[in-house]
Amino acid sequence: MLLQDKTILIANISGKRSTGWAIAQSFAQHGAKVAYTYQNERFGNEVRKLFEPLDSIDVGECDVTSDEDIDKLIERLGNKVDALDGLVHTPAFAKEEDLSNGFINTSRDGFKLALDISCYSLVALSRSALPLMEVRGGSIIALSYIGGEKAVKNYDVMGVAKSALESSIRYLAVDLGPKNIRANAISAGPMRTLAARGLKNFSDMYEGMKDKAPLKRNITTSEVGGTAAFLCSELASGITGEVLHVDAGYHAVGV
Ligand SMILES: NC(=O)c1ccc[n+]([C@@H]2O[C@H](COP(=O)([O-])OP(=O)(O)OC[C@H]3O[C@@H](n4cnc5c(N)ncnc54)[C@H](O)[C@@H]3O)[C@@H](O)[C@H]2O)c1
Repeated sequence: MLLQDKTILIANISGKRSTGWAIAQSFAQHGAKVAYTYQNERFGNEVRKLFEPLDSIDVGECDVTSDEDIDKLIERLGNKVDALDGLVHTPAFAKEEDLSNGFINTSRDGFKLALDISCYSLVALSRSALPLMEVRGGSIIALSYIGGEKAVKNYDVMGVAKSALESSIRYLAVDLGPKNIRANAISAGPMRTLAARGLKNFSDMYEGMKDKAPLKRNITTSEVGGTAAFLCSELASGITGEVLHVDAGYHAVGV
């Protein structure tokens, strides 16, 4: 199996509609042991129930705005495993008012918060997990969106956060490459998840994609799961610093 004997941490999962859960299912299907975390107990109950049938490790809650929380999370994981083969980063957040009033009106606090949760947390998690990941080498994956490459209406500060996230992936790839740790992003098309509900014109983004994308359809969270499994596997051993689009080809098309 593609991910046999690998342990991969998904930080974090919000519930059954989340991309993180689709990735977890794909990892499990391919033989990995999945370690998982959730933001807080609001999500904990549902997430723990989802994982009951899988070979998994509950690493508890973690608020990624706290370095202490992140370090404790990795400490708890380190008490259960000797090495970590993969880390998937999913957190993203921006205040509602910073996704609907025009980018020019983004507040200083809102900008900092969006970049902290949606981008810096990748750096902090990667650093904390490094001692476990350098044991056998591994794969880091972040989730992005085309709003990090092009200006997308109402995506605003989240687009800036995704640009920074994709850039962080390239810098992590350079720092961690000598330790045989690869870092890549998946730029996914719109999917109906909890985070998507926070976007004012999500339906336009979702429906609009079908007309323009070469495949003439939307993508599913399980397609992102499959790509994440590939990126964590030896099949992708030569790929790092990459932003891989899973968007039915939407990014490739002009007017
Ligand atoms: N849904 C889409 O259309 C889409 C498209 C492209 C990329 N993405 C990206 O995929 C990733 C997963 O999003 P999703 O759509 O599955 O929705 P989601 O709501 O499941 O994921 C967002 C996650 O961020 C977490 N989070 C927010 N603030 C946090 C904090 N302070 N500490 C810890 N965790 C925190 C939430 O708990 C949640 O698990 C995000 O990075 C998102 O930007 C989503």
